[in-house]
Amino acid sequence: MPRYLAGRGNLVDSARQRLQAVSEGYQARSVIYYGLRGVGKTVLLNAVEEEADKLEVLCRHIEVKEDGDLTKTLASASNAFVVSLSAMKAAKAWLDRVVSVAKSFTATWNPEDNTLSLGLNDAALTAATAGTGDLSNDLTQLLVELGKCARECKKTICFCIDEVQYARKEELEAVMTALHRTSQLNLPIIFFCAGLPRILKDAGDVKSYSERLFEFIEIDSLSASAAAEAVIEPAKPFGVAYDDDAVALIVKETAGYPYFIQEMCSTIWERCDGSRITVEDVAANIDETNRRLDKGFFLVRFNRCTAREQEFLQAMASCEELPCTIANVAKAMGRKVTAISPFRAKLINKGLIYATGRGEIDFTVPRFDAFLKRTQGV
Ligand SMILES: Nc1ncnc2c1ncn2[C@@H]1O[C@H](COP(=O)(O)OP(=O)(O)O)[C@@H](O)[C@H]1O
Ligand SMILES: [Mg+2]
Repeated sequence: MPRYLAGRGNLVDSARQRLQAVSEGYQARSVIYYGLRGVGKTVLLNAVEEEADKLEVLCRHIEVKEDGDLTKTLASASNAFVVSLSAMKAAKAWLDRVVSVAKSFTATWNPEDNTLSLGLNDAALTAATAGTGDLSNDLTQLLVELGKCARECKKTICFCIDEVQYARKEELEAVMTALHRTSQLNLPIIFFCAGLPRILKDAGDVKSYSERLFEFIEIDSLSASAAAEAVIEPAKPFGVAYDDDAVALIVKETAGYPYFIQEMCSTIWERCDGSRITVEDVAANIDETNRRLDKGFFLVRFNRCTAREQEFLQAMASCEELPCTIANVAKAMGRKVTAISPFRAKLINKGLIYATGRGEIDFTVPRFDAFLKRTQGV
């Protein structure tokens, strides 16, 4: 978490209002934050979780892994909610039922997990209804029971799902089906998700009504003034100040991307003494910042690709402008579109590129093209 979260005040306020509304029995649309790598989606999600904690909303953070294990993590998050609710008196009447549903969901969808060990009576166990083998049905049933129990306890449940683009199609569909049902029943459950831009299209492909369930909010680089704050504010408590032209150069060099700002400022911080940072200090650290970004941010992603995929990425970077068409990539590689399409799909799945609205492709990592030009002789 950055020491100072710049430029996201309105988004955090709006998230708090949603949480408050749900807590007071009103409907509020769930949210999907989408944007490139390093723009600050995860830290925003963390800030939303802090708001949820302050409002005493029950909240769990889930991070989907690249192989799509959302179901498993949903099962353990739900178990955790059941455990929290079980401590409340008002849950008594609902508890057996929600426990049994959660337990059979866990048993069906998460065979390795044995975390749910609350006392169960036999009747509740035999009445277990989830576990039909249909993920959408089972998750709906689980969230409905959880939601009813939460409502009885005057509690709100908030799922925060990061890297949601890695969810498998049927998982995404199940979440949407379940959320659709819980909102019809006006149950106090809300989702905040974060993911790469492809989630916009994936969600729409899975359910035509995705925009009724979720508000899709684009998270972009910071405005110039917010970027300046991200530079200045964290240094203040240490009695360190930046000259105006030093700030302006950082903002220009980083184009307001939070991850780049952070790397540049930490490089300057390590390599400069004194309580004033000048434009010369900044200029003297640009190359070193790029070296660190190449090593830590870009290269790890590039190295996760096969030789052919790397060639594809290099061909993209060699295109005159981005986003580019697959036809131009094929031309740069001297191959046919049909021959390179599988690499496009693989790179999308790995989260390195995405299809823009017009069907062109672009990098999910800002300035990946500049990195390839710097280091791979594109
Ligand atoms: N609004 C912000 N103000 C200051 N620093 C930020 C902000 N957003 C992100 N950062 C910093 O940038 C880095 C990348 O943020 P992160 O949330 O991991 O990006 P994403 O999840 O979009 O890839 C983090 O280390 C974080 O500290
Ligand atoms: Mg993230």
